[in-house]
Amino acid sequence: MAKNQNSNLHSAKKQKNDEFYTQLSDIEREMQHYKQHFLGKTIYCNCDDPEWSNFFKYFALNFEHLRLKKLVSTHFVYSDMFVEGETYKLEIVKGLDLNEDGKIDLADVVKTTLKGNGDFRSTECIEILKQADIVVTNPPFSLFREYVVQLVDYEKKFLIIGNRNAITYKEVFRLIKEGKMWLGHEFYRGNAYFEVPEDYANTQLIILNGRRLVKSRNCCWFTNMDYKERHENIILYKKYNEKDYPKYDNYDAIEVSKVADIPIDYDGNMGVPVTFMDKYNPEQFELVGMGEDNGTGFSGGAWLGGSKSCLVNGKAAFKRLFIRKKRII
Ligand SMILES: C[S@@+](CC[C@H](N)C(=O)[O-])C[C@H]1O[C@@H](n2cnc3c(N)ncnc32)[C@H](O)[C@@H]1O
Repeated sequence: MAKNQNSNLHSAKKQKNDEFYTQLSDIEREMQHYKQHFLGKTIYCNCDDPEWSNFFKYFALNFEHLRLKKLVSTHFVYSDMFVEGETYKLEIVKGLDLNEDGKIDLADVVKTTLKGNGDFRSTECIEILKQADIVVTNPPFSLFREYVVQLVDYEKKFLIIGNRNAITYKEVFRLIKEGKMWLGHEFYRGNAYFEVPEDYANTQLIILNGRRLVKSRNCCWFTNMDYKERHENIILYKKYNEKDYPKYDNYDAIEVSKVADIPIDYDGNMGVPVTFMDKYNPEQFELVGMGEDNGTGFSGGAWLGGSKSCLVNGKAAFKRLFIRKKRII
């Protein structure tokens, strides 16, 4: 296959993997925890085909209930499919009752053509971002790092969906460690369902009421908006002993293979699975580092060198985050 064809195929595959549409029920379930943050704010959905997006639909339908100031959504088209005039911005504005029916909702949408292709990194979309207070969407997984860094650079509040693996991306983990972002609530029973386009092939496809869905157990919400439950302590009941909690060969910490097994009485560094982040209360634990950066950067300074993985008696443990108790619990 010619190199060009190959890279076109690769990019088409990457594009398809970015076309996962979030279910309205999952959006509703998460948004209920942040209602106080939305009051009087401008919401921007910058990775949304507004005709498909349930994010735009959710905020349009709840515009008055949430007492929003403005809702903006921009429609992105891949530049290799770009047709002039196809990309657009949709807006709903407080007080702009276009059909004069006494309420502000989906019937009051103002549609404006965009100059570019609606890329969240374009100058045009960045100008819209600057005017917004909160960004809520499910951005393309392949651009997640860039996406988050841009939101933080522009000091925006956000609530976005990402792959759980993103927790251990250096850029993302650094933000989490610095308390600049954290995880939202879990998807219902940990399962996120996304609607996929007609031509998306997957052996695990679920057809529900004519819609093509894929299930993921590896997605989570990332946010920098506070909510009550993230300040609740993990209930600990296990006691430390040397046999059940061996020290790593190459890091000054003990191995704790399940979050529920974090010992109540250990004050040093502990290596825990990445799922710890679902329960992380910043008042209970300090995030010291993570186990994959080979002693450089932000692994907490206790790395003893050698393998990139945490080793227990010469055997590599799974990916680990390092935590330490913050106070007597
Ligand atoms: C995972 S899908 C989610 C769609 C929608 N937010 C939802 O959850 O229903 C990611 C969306 O981002 C769009 N997208 C991909 N690259 C983009 C870019 N550079 N700028 C803006 N949007 C982009 C895709 O077309 C796709 O609609």
